[in-house]
Amino acid sequence: MNADTTKKSVLSRRQFVNSTSLAALGLVAGAAPLIRTGRAAEVGANDKVRIGLIGCGGMGQGDLTCFFLNPEVECPVVCDVDDSKMLKAASICEQNKRAKPEMVKDFRRILERKDIDAVLVATPDHWHAMPAVLACQAGKDVYVEKPLARTIDEGRAMVEAARKHNRIVQMGSQWRSCNHIIEAAEIVKSGKLGKVSIVRGWAYLDWLPSIGKPADCPPPEGVDYDMWLGPAPKVPFNPNRFHFNFRWFWDYAGGLMTDWGVHLINMMLMGMGQQAPKSVFSTGGKFVFDDNSETPDSQVAVYEFPDFTLIWEHKAGMNNGLHGRSWGVQWSGTEGTIILNDGGYQVITEPKKANIESERKPGSGDPRPAHVRNFLECMKTRKPPVLNLEVGHHVSTVAHLGNIALRTGRKINWDGAQERVLDDPAADRMIGTDYRGPWKLPYLKRT
Ligand SMILES: NC(=O)c1ccc[n+]([C@@H]2O[C@H](COP(=O)([O-])OP(=O)(O)OC[C@H]3O[C@@H](n4cnc5c(N)ncnc54)[C@H](O)[C@@H]3O)[C@@H](O)[C@H]2O)c1
Repeated sequence: MNADTTKKSVLSRRQFVNSTSLAALGLVAGAAPLIRTGRAAEVGANDKVRIGLIGCGGMGQGDLTCFFLNPEVECPVVCDVDDSKMLKAASICEQNKRAKPEMVKDFRRILERKDIDAVLVATPDHWHAMPAVLACQAGKDVYVEKPLARTIDEGRAMVEAARKHNRIVQMGSQWRSCNHIIEAAEIVKSGKLGKVSIVRGWAYLDWLPSIGKPADCPPPEGVDYDMWLGPAPKVPFNPNRFHFNFRWFWDYAGGLMTDWGVHLINMMLMGMGQQAPKSVFSTGGKFVFDDNSETPDSQVAVYEFPDFTLIWEHKAGMNNGLHGRSWGVQWSGTEGTIILNDGGYQVITEPKKANIESERKPGSGDPRPAHVRNFLECMKTRKPPVLNLEVGHHVSTVAHLGNIALRTGRKINWDGAQERVLDDPAADRMIGTDYRGPWKLPYLKRT
């Protein structure tokens, strides 16, 4: 999760779209959506897998390196709106003894290519849904970073597109593939902890500094800023509303509640199952930093599930979280408690009962290679990946609801089956999305 702030620029600037390509891709009002079959309806067991990278920043570079751990992976094309980032991705291809890729500034050029089997989407959150949905329409499989999308309705559109076009889509919250977390979640599901009624997740992050209040300025050379904004509102360029720090602005993301919250809610629900919450309330604010970020540096969200309570907590600017861990997850049962983070997990039995032994298990290392491998295998077998869209959409939805409760300042009552906030039209509208034209997301159930 490191920022990458290189600002080199060597390629020429290019207009992001012309009216012909917009119409061809179904992005103007009334145009039919793009349905184009790419090369890869299916990839054979021994075939090369050809991916296109969309978004070559910090995570795009990390994910690409992970994909290259698999000898069958090639990356003939990379895309970013910032030339300097594309050059970095291209050099990663060469360092990993792959051919120098084509570099394109408009992701739709990747979707047109018949030789591409899958796309890897590592753009800011407001740019997850559109490339992922259009990729499904174009017959590509998709590995898309977390959170699934910027809004709940976008996530639903992604689920519909993947279903309709029979695509394999994995969300990149790698912890689903982490052995010691899978093991701990199995203990919770087995009932050995007794009745688990409270689950907590927390992220206290001292490495996140204040980002200050830089003035608006022209975008760096080599950046197509209009394409960076895409469906988001047109605002002047500000260095903070850009690489990495986009996370702290509502137009592009949801702060730590969705950035880290999705990872940890994912872990918590691995033990508790994919139930929908009935309600959530949340409080927090910008208490630590005096900067131009918008999302809270300190926040608590409390979710009422049918038979347990889930508590989310984050705080920037300090490291001392619960149990001396800067971040973690805790399942509390009547017979025992499990506390877990990347370093491993600990089972602590209740003094009055002994159905489960106290123990400590070490962490099982970086889960990203296994998560990527699972996606590649599923491309070949056409089986659902571990963090398929149903699950990815569910855990992202839970995180988004925390922000909706925070922003409205009210307790939100949630109808999980209909995906609606009950009796609160203003909160319900926050599930939806308001794209800046000409961008128009196919499969949105509410427009
Ligand atoms: N799984 C994890 O542990 C993990 C860790 C970090 C980030 N992430 C996720 O990865 C995503 C990217 O985060 P990051 O930290 O790498 O951000 P970043 O700002 O470093 O990288 C995003 C890149 O996308 C590019 N981009 C923006 N619009 C684009 C467009 N229309 N077409 C092509 N490229 C475009 C940007 O120029 C930038 O280079 C986020 O959704 C984030 O939540 C996941």
